Formats: sequence, structure tokens, C-alpha cells
Amino acid sequence: MMEKIPFILIIDYGSQLTQLIARRIREQGFFSRVTGIMGLKKELYEIRKQSEQENLLMGIILSGGPDSVEGQNSPAVDKFLFDLRVPILGICYGMQAIAKGLGGAVELGRSREFGKSVVRAHGKSKLLDNIQDFTNDAGHGLLDVWMSHGDSVTKVPPGFKIIASSSDCEIAGIADENNHFYGLQFHPEASHTKQGKKILERFCKTICNCPSEWTMKKFSENKILEIKKIVGQDKVLLGLSGGVDSSVVAKLLDEAIGKQLICIFVDTGLLRRNEAAAVMEIFENRVGGVVKKINAGKIFFEKLKGVFDPEEKRKIIGGLFIEIFEREAKKFSDVVWLAQGTIYPDIIESAGGENDGSTKKIKSHHNVGGLPDRLALKLLEPIKVLFKDEVRQLGLELGLERNIIFRHPFPGPGLAIRVLGEVTFEKVSILQSADEILLNLLKKTTVVERDVLEGLTVEENIGKKWYDATAQAFSVFLPLKTVGVKGDDRSYDWIIGIRIVNSTDFMTANASRLPYELLEQISSEIINKVQNVSRVVLDISNKPPATIEWE
Ligand code: XMP
Repeated sequence: MMEKIPFILIIDYGSQLTQLIARRIREQGFFSRVTGIMGLKKELYEIRKQSEQENLLMGIILSGGPDSVEGQNSPAVDKFLFDLRVPILGICYGMQAIAKGLGGAVELGRSREFGKSVVRAHGKSKLLDNIQDFTNDAGHGLLDVWMSHGDSVTKVPPGFKIIASSSDCEIAGIADENNHFYGLQFHPEASHTKQGKKILERFCKTICNCPSEWTMKKFSENKILEIKKIVGQDKVLLGLSGGVDSSVVAKLLDEAIGKQLICIFVDTGLLRRNEAAAVMEIFENRVGGVVKKINAGKIFFEKLKGVFDPEEKRKIIGGLFIEIFEREAKKFSDVVWLAQGTIYPDIIESAGGENDGSTKKIKSHHNVGGLPDRLALKLLEPIKVLFKDEVRQLGLELGLERNIIFRHPFPGPGLAIRVLGEVTFEKVSILQSADEILLNLLKKTTVVERDVLEGLTVEENIGKKWYDATAQAFSVFLPLKTVGVKGDDRSYDWIIGIRIVNSTDFMTANASRLPYELLEQISSEIINKVQNVSRVVLDISNKPPATIEWE
């Protein structure tokens, strides 16, 4: 279902920065949607069908991309976009594609610029007029910008004028102001382009006339009304994992349909210590509907016996989860909907976009994958247009506990992929104890100025707890024994690995730098308090080449 709010459509040509364009625009209250080029026609068909009277499409942004517009298989701008009578802004590849599509010229490798640059705005364009960082001696406005291109526009298309130039790139901005078509060679979405936000605001507000009324409060209110309307008196089933996304969906559905909500929480026995109790405490008796916990630890351990291969473990866990969920779901015969915590990054694929059918797909690593077909339930995905930090904002808006909203991600297969090799109850129990110590110390210890001076973290983190200053932290059980001394005795016990990373998208990650005293404290507390552990080791690998999890 489409949000019935005026919006800017972003067409993704494959740039790493596309989602950032969407975020920058939303931050300023303009709603944005992203589509890949493959899904574009379908997307526009839907937009037209649903917004005939309302005129929801206010403008289009063509993103950057890794290709060269002159490449044989490079995506061109679909010409029909120019007939939609909405303003268009092309960024980097997007500008070159506009230039090429409308009769200009692009040359390969003509001027390469990667990194910071300065452009001079000229021609008093509606897009850049009076936006500048400083002026030169001749009184021209100059902008600090971020460039990342090998090709350049060498001839502007008919009807266009040059609106920005850098010393290496004469045509760094173009405009056809009669038709409201614009192009920028630099990236306004990148934070190094200091006036980037203002430029995007100028495009959305002044050029597209897009209202800037999109707030999380409004989103929440509208969503609650919308859910009420489409669900009616039906019952909705939700697989609650205790993670941010499914918790926010639970809270949202509770506000919307209260008693009609049935949450199923499967305790696999592979959760962190006290996790199941903590999730139940937050949801049981506090939402209008049913919250049912299934204690399934025994069967999970049984099925994992003798299994060493990580992918096999994942398959067994996923399969069991579906089996249990399905069995429980059947007990509620009057359920019509299955709710899922799918979020925007799950459905944007640069080749696909949000409307090429991928919306119907269920997150591949999601625990309830495959269920709708078998259960013949309708799918409800109320937060699928939100980015992760927006989901958190929504959680705050709905009054969800901060410790749920700001928790580190936890993988679906749980501790089974953090016990290397065969999973046993004993190993999981050791791991839970070690992990509890690690997380408690990170939650207790504050980042201080010295940590910044020593280059361990950034200034914004001063005063935060280390848990909040890092993206993911956990312990790993290594099935190896080493010698130690405990008291007067020689010990021969297991090793615990510590993994703490900084990351924004979890596609790449850096091993976090923690003060040595804290690391020492973590190590000695684990060795002293957790039986059968003789040694703690720290993982300092970055991703890539290592992954975040060890299995
Ligand atoms: P990797 O190990 O791939 O992890 O660098 C990236 C992020 O994904 C999480 N992860 C998983 N989440 N099922 C999940 O639900 C899985 O099988 C799985 N494997 C990794 C990981 O915790 C990290 O946040």
C-alpha cells in the first residue's frame, strides 16, 4: 500500500549514496521513495493509478551510479520521465544521463575528481541562487562540494545553461529552468557538500513545491488509522523476536488494533541470558492482545546435536522456527493477517526497487520466511517505508522502552552461530554468562574525553556508554581448550572471543577501539566468574575481509 503523501521519487542508478539522498530529504520533512530502474515503470504505473486526483509525485531525483553513461549496458534515462511534467534533478551519473538523453554530450575520463572540490555557482539558477559557503575576490559565490566522477558533461543539451563549474570540470551543474530540469555533477547528499541539505531543500520546496510535513508523529498517527481501516475486525499474527523492528511493529499494532493482535515469541534456548524474560516483561500483559511464549529450547538443542556446519545450523533453526510458528498459528483459526517488521533497506534493491514484486518477498533471513503462502495469510508490513533510524524514532514516538529501541542487532539463529561447531547446552550456558558480563560492562562504562584524545572514539560519544558508542558487541565460544592457573590449580578450559564493532550499515565494520583498562576488566571478570573459561581473546579484524559474526 502506498503512503498517500506528496513525495519526491528517487531513481536509483546504483550509487552507494542513494539511500542517503532519501534520508537527507526525509530529514527535512519531505517524504521520499526510492525505486530501482527495473521497477520504475511499475512504480510509476502505481503512482499514477493511486494519485490521479491527488498529484502525489512532486519531483524526481536521478541518483549517481557506478557505470559510465557511454557504457554499452549502462542504464539510460527513460525518456517518458521528461514528459511527466515534474521537476527532475540528476546527480552525478543522473546529470550525465540527462545530458546524454536530451542531446548533450558526455566524455569518458575527461576530468576525474574524487573527493573535496570547490565549485562556483553562476547564472543565478533557481537551484543554487544565494547558496554559498564563501565568495571569491570577484564576488562569485563558491561552494565546498564532494565530487566522485571520471566522466564529464562536455556539451549541454539544447535549452540548458551551465549553473556551476569547478577548476577541473567546467560543466559541474546544468539547468533548463523552463522545464525545471537540473543536473549537478557533485553530490549534495554527501556531508562534505556543506550546503547540500540546503540545495536539496531548494529543489524539493521551491522547485517541486513539495510540502514538508512528514514527521514521525504524523507517520505514526496516519499509520494507526490506516491499519485500523484495512484490518477492520480481523486478527493479526506477529512473530515477536524482541528485536527493534518486530517490537516497534508490535507496539504500533497494539495502538491500532489492541485486542486483535496475537504475538508469538519462540524461545529457542539460544537467546542471551534473561532475554526471553525481558521481552515478555515488556509485552506480556501490556499489549491488548495475546502474547504467547513458546518454550522450544529442548527441540532446538536436540536437532542441533552433532551438527558442525554453520549453514546447516542456520537451516535447521530456520526450519524449526517455521514449523513451531506454523503449528502455533493454526491454533488461532480466525487469523487473517501476518504482520512483519520488514524495513526499507530490506526492499530497496538497486536493480529492483520497492515495487517490482520484491515487496512481496520476505526477508530471506527473517525467521518467518515462507509462512504466508502456507498459512494463506495476508501480509501486513507497516514499517516497510522506514529506515532503521526512523524505526527507532517511531519506537520513541510510541513510547517503547529505550533499551529495546537502542539495542544491538542479534542474529535470528542466535547463539548457535556464536558457539563455533557443535552446539550444546553447556557451551551456550558458558557463552551466555560471558556475554552478560561483556554487555553489562559496556553498558556501565562511560566514554570519557581521554578516550577521544587517545583516538579510540569520536567526540560525539563523550558521555555515552560504550554500549551506545558501538554498533554490535558479543562473545563467541571457541571450542578449544588452553591451559591456565586458577588459584593453585592448573586449569584446562575453553576460550571466549570478544567481538565489538563500529558500523553504520553492517555491510562494512571496524573493530571498535576500547580503553585497555576496560578490555582488561572484561577479560578478568569473564575468567574469574565464568566457570570453565581459561582465556579471553579480542577480535580486531575489520569487515571486509572478516564478517561480523564468526560463523
Ligand atoms: P555478518 O556476519 O554477515 O553480519 O558480517 C552482518 C549483520 O548481520 C547479522 N547476521 C545475521 N542476522 N540471521 C540474522 O538474522 C543470520 O543468519 C545472520 N548472520 C549475521 C549480524 O549479527 C550482523 O549484525
